[in-house]
Amino acid sequence: MAPGARPPNIVVLTGAGISRESGLHTFRDPEGIWAQVRIEDVATPEAFARDPACVQAFYDARRMQLRNAGVEPNAAHRALAELEARWPGGFLLVTQNVDDLHGRAGSRRLIAMHGELAKARCLTCHAVVVSPDTLADGPACPACGVPGRLRPHVVWFGEMPLEMERIGEALSVCDLFVSIGTSGAVYPAAGFVAEVRGRAETLELNLEPSEGTRLFDEARHGPATRLVPQWVGEVMARWR
Ligand code: APR
Repeated sequence: MAPGARPPNIVVLTGAGISRESGLHTFRDPEGIWAQVRIEDVATPEAFARDPACVQAFYDARRMQLRNAGVEPNAAHRALAELEARWPGGFLLVTQNVDDLHGRAGSRRLIAMHGELAKARCLTCHAVVVSPDTLADGPACPACGVPGRLRPHVVWFGEMPLEMERIGEALSVCDLFVSIGTSGAVYPAAGFVAEVRGRAETLELNLEPSEGTRLFDEARHGPATRLVPQWVGEVMARWR
């Protein structure tokens, strides 16, 4: 590191693409989740009010896949955890993913802005608890004991993403913003690059150009398991 130089504060944003090579589907690819079910049927508060069993079954199936189908963190998740562990400057990983693969890879300075499949929230006492495998059969809340009141702790369309204040603070002092495996179709996450542009270096790592690709200083296209470890190696070598 050059004498007197300060390592950049890094904010990394990830989306479904980083978990694709772990065997989880993305949302908007041709064979993605939103090609199989409609957002309006499973991912809005209105859908839950209209047909809670259908919504619970959708998230139960995704939770079971995560817990039982041998889904493991991949080289991209692991590289970000290693960067966090070794980085001498500020670091925050913000994920839109509701899977727990970043946490399982060892990431700790992590915000799951769209919630977590592994957790459930009680509509009666508002406790956030470890989710039972299935919510469709109306288990009792472990905190207050009322049955049938747990919903997935995930953010639906029309709801406010979690911890936006902490994310805003990290973006306001960020020098390097890296977006990985996200189509840039869903706000507020899709707006982060515009928020830091001009005062932070911005980099996109994605299989293909995202909707916001032209907003980034640099964009590299390819699979996350190749691009992310390569970038982490570069940034650590620059500041060793
Ligand atoms: N490596 C890197 N990127 C990949 C890979 C891969 N192996 N495979 C796919 N991608 C890219 C796709 O090209 C696409 O641009 O990942 C992106 C995934 O985009 P989306 O499916 O739209 O997922 P995401 O951006 O996370 O969606 C945002 O939308 O419906 C919601 O709440 C859901 O959090 C999600 C939000």
